[in-house]
Amino acid sequence: MIRSIVLRRPLLFILATFGLLILVNLLCTAVFFPSQLSAKTQQSVQDGMPFFPFRASTDNRKLEGHMFQDPKACGACHKDIYKEWEGSVMANAWQDPIYRELLKRTSEATGGAMDNFCIGCHSPIGLTTGTATARGPEAKIAEDGVGCESCHNISASTGVGNGSFVLTPQKNGRPLKFGPHKDAESTFHDSAYSDLHTKSEICGTCHNVTHPFNQLRIEETYDEWRDSPYNAKGIQCQDCHMTPGPGVTGNPGKAAPTGKERDHVFSHSFSSANSTLLDHFGKKEMSERARDMLRSAATIEFLESPSRIRSGETVKVSLRVNNTGAGHKLPTGFPEGREVWVDFKVVDSDGREVYRLGAVRDGHTEKGTKSFKAILGNSKGEVVDINVWEAERLLSDTRILPYGHADVEYAFTADDRVRGPLRIQADLYYWAFPQHIVDELLGKGAMTVDIVRMGSVSKEIPLASTSSR
Ligand code: HEC
Ligand code: HEC
Ligand code: HEC
Ligand code: HEC
Ligand code: HEC
Repeated sequence: MIRSIVLRRPLLFILATFGLLILVNLLCTAVFFPSQLSAKTQQSVQDGMPFFPFRASTDNRKLEGHMFQDPKACGACHKDIYKEWEGSVMANAWQDPIYRELLKRTSEATGGAMDNFCIGCHSPIGLTTGTATARGPEAKIAEDGVGCESCHNISASTGVGNGSFVLTPQKNGRPLKFGPHKDAESTFHDSAYSDLHTKSEICGTCHNVTHPFNQLRIEETYDEWRDSPYNAKGIQCQDCHMTPGPGVTGNPGKAAPTGKERDHVFSHSFSSANSTLLDHFGKKEMSERARDMLRSAATIEFLESPSRIRSGETVKVSLRVNNTGAGHKLPTGFPEGREVWVDFKVVDSDGREVYRLGAVRDGHTEKGTKSFKAILGNSKGEVVDINVWEAERLLSDTRILPYGHADVEYAFTADDRVRGPLRIQADLYYWAFPQHIVDELLGKGAMTVDIVRMGSVSKEIPLASTSSR
């Protein structure tokens, strides 16, 4: 009987089976999460998204604080790793005051509809144990941001972006850590080899952010890397962000005193760019590492410049900025803030400024500055630089592709007061946020944005009249 139904109406059979599965699933959920059975939760459990609209899942377990261990406990054996992580941006992802202010505003403006979404990547344990909320206060375990357990309890990914990781702390009542080794042995915890941890895909679960309701791609660091020559060459995020510094490929030693000798122990400072935040938290050594990374990311060179300058004539200068070191766009990540720009200056021999474009005025790069940045817009096409939940489209994107370059041109006229030779200088700068955004979010004087010089070129050009003497 059943067999004939299967044969004659395969679709009906599949639908019936599927319906039954969903029913069983919902009943199980009712037993395990009785308090949470609102209509919304039902719907999202059904969709496999218990933290809707965030994509994380937990292998159908209800997670509790005691299942996760304190990073300090890991530090007893993994001393260097702990010290590096503790000084990293990710360790501060929940404490970050800029994030917290924007979280508060997002939560208020959307009536809490985005809370899970915003909390999930910045405090995975806080979200999945229900201990972090947009308004706080929160439990200690939520405060560790992206901690040891956030990454080493990830057992799988279900896709890319928006938190598509599966968090499974402990197995068989014992702590279990997923990591890169097939032969790791520790008395403190079980270890399991995870291919995912050796690849960019683990980072991609969080480093791709799509607006949960209108699908605008807000952050695309993973996709930028995926489409780059670095991916083709097999160079992962870890190869640049988990070494002691730019250009250093090996870090031989042991990850723990009783561990095995390894050719490379992965460092955990995740150095990159946000020196402002690291300075704010007093992490001087780490903010210097971030500046090192920025200085390794790009070069700037003259393409075209005159050999003599005649006063009264329009002078053209062009420059090229090369993304030589970043495995994604330059800059990448959080689009409301990140900006790289050229500050172009012409000064005469008296030190008088003849021309400048690219100065910072009132917390902005001045109008007309050649800058490399993504600009988001709302439904009316107006610039969104704070209210990220309103972003609906990308208005422009001048960021530089990996191994790519961008050319910029300047034109100026030297008046007849100039004294030769003229010095032309172009500085390439980065800031994680324009100062005016930080002032608007935190109040004036709360945080000074660090402006980092990534590179610089200059040359002296004689005046035509001087040289004809
Ligand atoms: C009592 C010492 C000790 C403590 C405490 C400890 N570990 Fe380990 N852990 C080890 C040793 C030893 C190894 C094996 C290292 C090796 O051989 O390279 C290891 C390996 C690992 C690995 C690699 C696993 C793999 O399969 O690649 C991870 C990840 C890890 N530990 C995470 C943690 C975390 C997270 C904590 C804190 C919750 C922690 N450890 C606490 C001793 C410890
Ligand atoms: C559970 C989510 C999550 C995972 C997994 C994750 N990250 Fe992050 N990462 C974040 C968040 C959130 C921030 C931003 C924190 C802030 O600025 O408040 C961040 C920040 C960073 C930064 C600092 C950026 C800056 O502005 O200086 C680097 C570098 C980084 N991550 C690299 C990685 C790499 C490499 C991996 C993979 C090995 C990875 N991340 C995996 C969530 C994650
Ligand atoms: C953002 C995610 C992330 C965080 C946070 C994180 N790790 Fe890791 N860790 C990784 C990845 C990914 C690897 C493996 C890199 C690879 O193989 O490419 C790794 C490797 C390790 C290893 C093996 C090191 C080696 O090279 O032998 C240990 C041990 C470890 N982590 C412990 C820790 C501890 C302890 C903490 C907290 C203090 C921590 N991790 C925080 C992602 C993370
Ligand atoms: C070839 C080396 C390289 C690779 C591969 C690479 N990065 Fe980077 N990354 C850099 C450098 C250099 C910087 C600093 C310049 C910048 O901000 O772009 C950086 C910056 C960052 C930042 C901070 C951006 C900002 O301004 O806030 C994040 C986040 C980041 N990387 C994450 C990742 C992730 C995730 C991957 C893998 C999908 C990855 N990186 C792959 C070299 C690399
Ligand atoms: C899928 C993961 C993910 C989600 C969801 C997410 N973020 Fe982030 N967030 C990140 C990563 C990764 C970075 C770091 C990128 C970089 O450094 O450029 C970041 C950076 C930020 C920053 C910059 C912090 C600083 O100090 O520079 C702010 C602010 C922020 N996020 C707020 C939010 C808000 C508000 C929401 C909810 C609307 C949200 N995030 C949702 C992953 C996420």
